Amino acid sequence: MPKIKVAIVGVGNCASALVQGLQYYSNREERELVGLRNNVLGGYRAEDIGIVAAFDIDERKVGKDLSEAILSQPNNTPKLADVPLSNVAVHKGPVLDGVGEYTKDVIRVSNHPEANVAMVLKESDAEILINLLPSGAMKASQYYAEQALISGCAYVNATPNFIASDAAWMNRFETAELPVVGDDLIDQVGSTTLHKTLLQLLSMNGVHIIETYQLDVGGGTESLDTLGRTKDLKRAVKTKSVEAALPYEAAVVAGSTDYVDFLQNRRDSYFWIKGVHFCNVPMQIDLKLSTTDAPNAGSVLFDVIRATKIALERKEKGALLPVCAYGFKHPPQLMPLELAEKMFNDFVNEEA
Ligand SMILES: NC(=O)c1ccc[n+]([C@@H]2O[C@H](COP(=O)([O-])OP(=O)(O)OC[C@H]3O[C@@H](n4cnc5c(N)ncnc54)[C@H](O)[C@@H]3O)[C@@H](O)[C@H]2O)c1
Repeated sequence: MPKIKVAIVGVGNCASALVQGLQYYSNREERELVGLRNNVLGGYRAEDIGIVAAFDIDERKVGKDLSEAILSQPNNTPKLADVPLSNVAVHKGPVLDGVGEYTKDVIRVSNHPEANVAMVLKESDAEILINLLPSGAMKASQYYAEQALISGCAYVNATPNFIASDAAWMNRFETAELPVVGDDLIDQVGSTTLHKTLLQLLSMNGVHIIETYQLDVGGGTESLDTLGRTKDLKRAVKTKSVEAALPYEAAVVAGSTDYVDFLQNRRDSYFWIKGVHFCNVPMQIDLKLSTTDAPNAGSVLFDVIRATKIALERKEKGALLPVCAYGFKHPPQLMPLELAEKMFNDFVNEEA
């Protein structure tokens, strides 16, 4: 049995990168661990994390072994590792609002009977449930939070739906004596982090930012779902997060804009910054960042999973602020990057 037993809901691109990443990084020499922020965290390494249960609704994934499901369409993130048979079959969960107007022709709903989710979680001995549902799946995100509470799992909400930052849900996890973290995972080389860092750097150097925007285009199913359902939500979350990087008000816009199918799982992010420096002389920055979406979530997920396990060991309950602020764009409380980093390191290295 793995030391950290994880269940995932939503076997999409992000889940694919996570599962492949676990295979890629397990049992490697220290010098081969390039690409991870923390090789060891709280004494845990990649090989200590194991996926013990998985849920989806797509007929090309349900009933399949996880190793096969992660490479099934419409997933389009690249193959990163040869994942052997996992002996974890993907269960069918309830559809609820999992399929949006724009993804109804892309996701093929399976006619398998629905699993008893809480029972599967208990029987698999899962201790952490990660929500990797489409961003528009608010009801399904809440349903799985409920199943985590029933089955005694910590809940990691990678979606932009408000769970860890919602007072009512925070209280419910607190009462159940379980940890919850979220909302909306931060990428390793993410546009939000890069945007905030650039603004902080310029502002620290005395540049006064007048206006800035960051917009991106992607080709994964998630970008399609965003187009249909969560464009405004994502824009609000990202804009608020970026605004917090400046000590004064400026015109800030940050959000996803469009879906371009041939990009596959690639995401192109465009940045525009306009400001003034010495003697009110204008300056501007025009930048493009190109990343592959799902692998961009892997390193942060590795850290969040291990930190959540540490919280479970310490019997921490409710929203874990240091983990939320470090790994998510919409934590219960926004804070500068360095403070979030420090709080996370203090939390992980705290003596039990
Ligand atoms: N870098 C990143 O990939 C990144 C960063 C931050 C946040 N996120 C968030 O992670 C989530 C997952 O992203 P993704 O790119 O893997 O999305 P995706 O669309 O590739 O995968 C979603 C999966 O959920 C499944 N699904 C839909 N409804 C379901 C239901 N009711 N029950 C079970 N499964 C269901 C779909 O079939 C699909 O397999 C999104 O909410 C996204 O906003 C991802």
